[in-house]
Amino acid sequence: MNFEIQKRALSRVIRDDLDALIVVWPSQTALTASEKDPLSVLVRQAIHTGDLELKVGAVLVMYGQTGIKARHVAVVCSQDNTPVQIRSAMGAAWNALKASKAKNLGVYMAGEWNASCVDAAASALAEASYSYTTTLSKPQHRTLKQVKFSAAEVNSEMRTALAQTQALNAGVELAKEWANRPANHATPTMLAQAAKALAKGPSFKCEVLGPKEVAQLGMGAFMAVAQGAAEPLRFIVMRYNGAASAQPPVVLVGKGITFDTGGISMKPAAEMDEMKYDMSGAASVLGVFKALSELKPTINVVGLIPATENMPDGLAIKPGDVVTSMSGQTIEILNTDAEGRLVLCDALTYAERFKPQAVIDIATLTGACVIALGGVRSGLFTSDEELALQLQQSGDRSGDLCWRMPMDDQYAEGLKTRFADVANVAGRAAGSVTAAKFLQRFTSKYPWAHLDIAGTAWKSGAAKGATGRPVALLMHYLLAKAKAPARVVRRA
Ligand code: BES
Ligand code: MN
Ligand code: ZN
Repeated sequence: MNFEIQKRALSRVIRDDLDALIVVWPSQTALTASEKDPLSVLVRQAIHTGDLELKVGAVLVMYGQTGIKARHVAVVCSQDNTPVQIRSAMGAAWNALKASKAKNLGVYMAGEWNASCVDAAASALAEASYSYTTTLSKPQHRTLKQVKFSAAEVNSEMRTALAQTQALNAGVELAKEWANRPANHATPTMLAQAAKALAKGPSFKCEVLGPKEVAQLGMGAFMAVAQGAAEPLRFIVMRYNGAASAQPPVVLVGKGITFDTGGISMKPAAEMDEMKYDMSGAASVLGVFKALSELKPTINVVGLIPATENMPDGLAIKPGDVVTSMSGQTIEILNTDAEGRLVLCDALTYAERFKPQAVIDIATLTGACVIALGGVRSGLFTSDEELALQLQQSGDRSGDLCWRMPMDDQYAEGLKTRFADVANVAGRAAGSVTAAKFLQRFTSKYPWAHLDIAGTAWKSGAAKGATGRPVALLMHYLLAKAKAPARVVRRA
């Protein structure tokens, strides 16, 4: 999907040769508009008669109007034009126009718009027009090809934002694609192939380790999860070098459980299919690399993906088994369903070799995080104030929100055991925090943050599917870093 933006009056836009046109109309504009073009006249009339309600997402659809060249027109109310309102208005407008199968869409932005509004509109449109096709015999591909945004005033920030959003959307959609694929179409080997395919350009590299290499590294916790699976594990190392090689990279670590049965501590049957999404963290790392390949910012980024299935088997780990992680710490596996932290802890130790400026892991880690925050905000866990602020701001700016959770050491009490250095689970209380406290034991060498995306990476129910989160949050974070001068003094 290609986006364009132009400064044009509505009276011009209605003469454009378009399959469909969306007019985003804030309440204020509706009251003061004095334009005489046929569309403005119709809208004022519709507001007057109450046929277009002045509330966010209210849509008026028109067809074949004289004086308007686009066959299908949707006028949608965006109230005060906040990014959140624009997001839901665009979604509603596209849903009303979906049946038109438009290829060539115009969007007229009435009232005051800024760069964040443009970003919200373009990402909402991509979201609403996305459809999963890979495993369907008669897929309905997206028809929408070209979107032309117009407004009375267009500045350079709006143009930059639109180009950036277009690249981010490509990343978000790649993340959705991999997360949506069923586990037999997204094995660790296939994820590794996808990573290799992404790492084609001159600034990219990708290395894939298999069971032998992972054993040599001593990744005993990662191997323990994989030992019950027939599909071989993969440890994927992606590199993007957009800045001087002396500049320490940001390392992203994505949980890549391609299917989580729970292992011997098996999950109940209901909705177990949703555990195909347990590699959404990995998918978000792939999505970030896709967006990096389009935007090429001046920053160095490493992506690490420990990928395996979590299966019950004669060879699978058993509750009570003690394994030795790459860090040397021993772990008592009290629950084989707490496997995410086991694959992540070894990846976090591996991350040390890059002497990173920051490490962020992204994982569908706990059901407890879904209970705490639902699908609105991802859980953010870190003891680093600067990183916390940067990630929170990136979430706010991209609309891909997160919420900081506590990290007090008292939360780690429950992880104590007589039989190893640490247990892989504590009690039910504060389950998302105790999981983060487990991970924190492996991150002493660098500033670190953990994003629990168990609630935000996909939706269940009727709209079941991957969301592509938190690619937008991560990209906003990386792009802000690429613009800011590199930090000279690195913390120990
Ligand atoms: N992949 C799950 C977490 C999950 C649950 C994600 C529901 C999305 C929706 C993870 O591996 C898991 O099973 N966690 C356990 C941890 C528990 C055993 C301490 C959980 O949350 O129940
Ligand atoms: Mn699990
Ligand atoms: Zn899991």
